[in-house]
Amino acid sequence: MLDYSKILPWYKPAANESLKCVSKGQGLYQRAKELIPGATHLFGKRAELYAPDVWPCYYKRAKGCTIWDLDGNKYLDFTMVGIGACTLGYADRDITSAVHKELVSGNLCTLNSPLEVQLAEKLAELHPWSQMVRYARTGGEMASIAIRIARASTGKSKIIICGYHGWHDWYLSANLASQKCLDGHLLQGLQPNGVPRELQGLTIPVKYGDADSLKMLLRADHDIAAVVMEPSREQGYDKVFLSQVREECSRHSVVLIFDETTSGFREYCGGIHMLSGTAPDLCIFGKTISNGIPMAALIGTRSVMEAAQSTFISSTYWTESIGPAAALEFIKKHQRLNLGTVLEQVGERIRNNIQTACNSSGLEVTFNGTKALTSFSIVHHDWPKMLTLFTQMMMNQGVLASDRSYSNYSHTFSGALRKHRTAITDVLGRIALYASRDELDNVLRTRVKTSSFGRI
Ligand SMILES: Cc1ncc(COP(=O)(O)O)c(C=O)c1O
Repeated sequence: MLDYSKILPWYKPAANESLKCVSKGQGLYQRAKELIPGATHLFGKRAELYAPDVWPCYYKRAKGCTIWDLDGNKYLDFTMVGIGACTLGYADRDITSAVHKELVSGNLCTLNSPLEVQLAEKLAELHPWSQMVRYARTGGEMASIAIRIARASTGKSKIIICGYHGWHDWYLSANLASQKCLDGHLLQGLQPNGVPRELQGLTIPVKYGDADSLKMLLRADHDIAAVVMEPSREQGYDKVFLSQVREECSRHSVVLIFDETTSGFREYCGGIHMLSGTAPDLCIFGKTISNGIPMAALIGTRSVMEAAQSTFISSTYWTESIGPAAALEFIKKHQRLNLGTVLEQVGERIRNNIQTACNSSGLEVTFNGTKALTSFSIVHHDWPKMLTLFTQMMMNQGVLASDRSYSNYSHTFSGALRKHRTAITDVLGRIALYASRDELDNVLRTRVKTSSFGRI
């Protein structure tokens, strides 16, 4: 039994709490469930999404793609690496030093930071179609700001969405009609409890690539203010579809918003839309712009962005300076390292490691996402169970892994990627054997992962 008073002096186990946890992280996670509804503030960090009873849950330190958990175990991170935010790796030296400089000279004061203007200049230089910018600190709030500006600019109310855009009322209201409306848009089973029923019908989902439905909606309904979409998510961008969306939006005076919170500043320094050749009216950047330091930016054409002056959008912490400092340093480094190309090459290698391991163990695998945002699934009648066992066994090899493996600059070819290959070859080989003997249950030491939202 673990003695929590020695490990975490402030930790007070509940009277009825079972301490039969396999690790300090698991113990703390059980305690967190009593103190924090949902245990964590990001759905994607729930242990239930990985290997519920053995996932390390908490970390002491993270550097590059290495994570040390509370028990001192060391893992290479081959999941999304900071939920997709830290493409340079954890605790990047240059980002840390840019942030440190701001902290010691005062990152928030009565006056404004000049870095806000410097970053605005940089974003306008990278995106010749845009002239103005607003900042926030998270992707979800930036999306809400974009929606407010689009509504203010057009005087219309309804929004068409395609993709994931955060937790706010305007987005979740799509699930008021049926809890399944958003299921094809990254997260399943999102419950809209607490969202006013009066919002029903204001947000309408459309499938990526379904130009006909989009055209029909825009032609039939003259109250649509904006189409907000991820230009690329589970697949690469569809050049033809994006240009069709652009054409229809322009025809109906609807604001086109690209949400590049995940795709932006990854394969391309700017947004993936710059490669597609289609310019939106507004574009959202979030967690990928500052390597783990909270920052988000909305860029747009002057004519639409000016509407931000006709409505109240204001927050204290949007004016602190570590966010812009981190973003400026990150953009500089993205350009200097040619990060987009490196991430694609790393993604190719990750896929190759998975594919080769599957080939040699006779497993059939399919891939989704762009190379830098690889996800995969193996053909098996109980893939969630097999995937949970995969995570459990990869952990034993010192690798955090699930079905999403995002490329990272610190996934070095001679180091991390080589270790990944060795681990995955061994693990998938053994999993194939267990599966062929119908023995997955015999080796699984945890409940099976879930993938949809729900109470824990
Ligand atoms: C496209 C997109 N929009 C919005 C969000 C929400 O961003 P945040 O979690 O920073 O609020 C995400 C997060 O993954 C995202 O991928």
